[in-house]
Amino acid sequence: MTTLNSMSTASTTAPSNLASSTIDMQSLVAPVAHEMQLVEEWLTTNLIDDSPFVGELLNQIFQAGGKRIRPLVTLLASKASLADPAEDKTHSEMSRLHIILAVLTELIHSASLVHDDVIDASSTRRGKETVNKRFNDKLAVLLGDLLFAQASICLARIMNPVVVGIYGQVLGDLCSGEISQMRQQFSTVVDWDGYYQKSIKKTASLIAAGSHSGAILNARPDAVVAGLKEYGVKLGLCFQIVDDVLDVAGTAKETGKPVGSDLRNGLITAPALHVIEAGGAPALALTNLIKERKVLTDEGLAEAVAIIQTAGGVDAALALAQRIGQEAKDSLAVVGDSDSKTALISLVDYVLIRNS
Ligand code: FPP
Ligand code: MG
Repeated sequence: MTTLNSMSTASTTAPSNLASSTIDMQSLVAPVAHEMQLVEEWLTTNLIDDSPFVGELLNQIFQAGGKRIRPLVTLLASKASLADPAEDKTHSEMSRLHIILAVLTELIHSASLVHDDVIDASSTRRGKETVNKRFNDKLAVLLGDLLFAQASICLARIMNPVVVGIYGQVLGDLCSGEISQMRQQFSTVVDWDGYYQKSIKKTASLIAAGSHSGAILNARPDAVVAGLKEYGVKLGLCFQIVDDVLDVAGTAKETGKPVGSDLRNGLITAPALHVIEAGGAPALALTNLIKERKVLTDEGLAEAVAIIQTAGGVDAALALAQRIGQEAKDSLAVVGDSDSKTALISLVDYVLIRNS
């Protein structure tokens, strides 16, 4: 059985069926290293007020070791969109607007996580105490709102109504994805379409907004914009499936969250869906543990996690993520070769083998 643990013992080395070389974040960032540095400076700039208390909270959030995948995708895709596959020329330069786009994408992501931790009653994120645990739910809701407010200021500065519409839709998608997830809690019905739709809304929509909005700002043709959007949707789905795998096959030390958090919250994700779909004794045992709410106890949760691992749920979910990852790479055919395009391709492998 391939567990994420066994994959992640070589966390910097891609499995042979993915890529032959080592993937380190630095090489992925290289084509946009300067821009990513500017994003970091922007993130802790408090655009709303100059309260030291809020400033300290923002620092806590942005220095907690996030991977910055969303701003990276935004900047790499913006830059990649400038290379034309048919002509040997670039169309315009990266501008300050692309930096703001990357910043706002990370701000929305961070805001949604602060709110998500309230919804999930989580006490740790990225190995650190969540805002809701350290203070309380009310403060966490307000801090999340403040981050959304900062994102809307960024959006206004971009001054592009199409991009405003895209991010407005994303905010709605994040909420409606969470609502769908809530409504599917503890359901053992195998509903792959429901799982994909929920994952696209709560995770892929924001990554896709970042991956194609830069091309819109660069006034690139519809086909380029559509291909980059497709890349973001597929990468986002891949990211969510790996996240779901990590929940049952990662370690709390790696993920910064207790093992089995999703199951304990009644979230039946790809690894469990595969086991239930396959049927037989493992499916029956897992279904009972979920339906009878035994996953709410430490023993029941450990049993459910063990069933998912031994019955092949992790392997099947990883294989699914790899197929979708390949589709993400294929969708980049709309842009010409460039360092940024190469990094976007490697980023898919990075997401597939990540262990945190
Ligand atoms: C993490 O998922 C959460 C999200 C990807 C999105 C959460 C969105 C909201 C709470 C709605 C945001 C509100 C507004 C106003 C737009 P997860 O729980 O699967 O991941 P985790 O394991 O890291 O917590
Ligand atoms: Mg959560």
